[in-house]
Amino acid sequence: MQLFAKSALAFLTLFVGLTKAQINGTGNLFYFVPSTGACGFTNSPDQYVAIVSGDVFNSYPGATDDPNYNPICEHNLTVTCMHRHSFELTIELELTVTSDKGTEVSAQIVDYYTSSPDNNVGLSSAAFKVFGRPLGEISDVTWDIV
Ligand SMILES: *[C@@H]1O[C@H](CO)[C@@H](O)[C@H](O)[C@H]1NC(C)=O
Ligand SMILES: *[C@@H]1O[C@H](CO)[C@@H](O)[C@H](O)[C@H]1NC(C)=O
Repeated sequence: MQLFAKSALAFLTLFVGLTKAQINGTGNLFYFVPSTGACGFTNSPDQYVAIVSGDVFNSYPGATDDPNYNPICEHNLTVTCMHRHSFELTIELELTVTSDKGTEVSAQIVDYYTSSPDNNVGLSSAAFKVFGRPLGEISDVTWDIV
């Protein structure tokens, strides 16, 4: 019984190690309701926490088949959202708009999803609300694992 478990573990570790890491991207932002995630932490919606795709999570350098020990769990996801009305504002507020880098939110990665394309990312509602949009989906955000 124990021998079988050990060889299965070695095989999974090898498999995970073959995938290439993705540490940044552009995709849609959604919000999620955190509870106990793949990292093993228990969080609530009023905390700033983040979720990435299963591929991003499991290809992170140092990942093994035990998600609780994935080094990604010690990192934040920084999400940047460009301001929606920047084009309309260009004529009157040119100086302000050209220096506007958008709103940035950083939150600890605690879990992964399997139900959405790989380049999407999620934030808890408290972190999502920093963008000043109703809870839902925001398209074309950029993200970085920091
Ligand atoms: C995204 O990550 C790649 C390495 O995977 C790096 O070469 C590239 O410069 C990064 N892009 C940005 C915008 O940070
Ligand atoms: C990670 O996110 C938390 C919550 O927003 C923040 O307090 C912390 O400063 C961030 N750490 C880094 C290294 O970005």
